[in-house]
Amino acid sequence: MNADQMKQIAAEKAATYVEDGMMLGLGTGSTVFYLVEAVARRVQAEGLQLTAVATSSRTAKQASELGIKMIDLNDAPTLDLTIDGADEISADFQGIKGGGGALLLEKIVALNSRRNLWIVDESKIVPQLGAFPLPIEVIPFGLAKLTQRLEAEDLHPVLRRQANGELFLTHNKNYILDLHIGNIPHPHVLGEWLDHQTGVVEHGLFLDVAKTVVVGHPAGPEVLQA
Ligand code: A5P
Repeated sequence: MNADQMKQIAAEKAATYVEDGMMLGLGTGSTVFYLVEAVARRVQAEGLQLTAVATSSRTAKQASELGIKMIDLNDAPTLDLTIDGADEISADFQGIKGGGGALLLEKIVALNSRRNLWIVDESKIVPQLGAFPLPIEVIPFGLAKLTQRLEAEDLHPVLRRQANGELFLTHNKNYILDLHIGNIPHPHVLGEWLDHQTGVVEHGLFLDVAKTVVVGHPAGPEVLQA
C-alpha cells in the first residue's frame, strides 16, 4: 500500500469526528484533500449542517465546490474542530507543518480552534523532529541578512523554489526558507528563538497544538490521543 492510500485511510477515519452543526477548520495538503471529499460525502448523505474555514484557497475551492459552506475566519466563532495534515509528528505530539507552504494560515486557524486533529500516513510519525526540513515564512526585505543569521546558528536555510525554478511565494507573498537541521532535540527552545527573529513571520513548529492524531496504516487507521 502506498502513502497516498494510507493518507486516505486516516482522512476517512477523521471525517467520522465531524458532528452536525460544527464550525470546522480545514487544513491544506494531499491528506486534507481526502478529508474534504469524505466530509462532503457525509454532508450529502446525512444532511450535516456544517460551516468551515479553510487554510488555503485550494482547500476553500475544493470544499465549496463539494457543497461545504465556507466562511471567512473573521466571521467565524471559535472553531469546534480543525483537521489538518502534518509533515512530521514526534511521539509527544509535537509537529512540523508547512511542507505545502500554508503554515501561517494553518497556525492562525489552529490557534482559533478548540480542538486540533492531525491526519498522517505512518511514515510521518518519528522519534524526533527535524529530518523533514523545517519551513519558516519570511518577508522578502532583508532576506540575505536573515539567511546569514540563520546560517550562523547552523540552521542551514534553503530558499524554497518551485519546480520551474521561480521563487515559491506564500499566500501573503512572502518567501519560505526550509531549515535543514537534521534533528531538533528541543523544539520549544528553537520555536521560541524563531519567534523572536525579526523578519520571520511564522515557523512550522506546531507545539502543543494537536491532542489527537489519526495515523493511516495498511491495516487501518490508528487513533493516538495525547
Ligand atoms: C501545508 O502547508 C502543510 O502543513 C501540510 O499540512 C503538510 O505539508 C502535509 O501535507 P500532505 O498531507 O500533502 O502530506
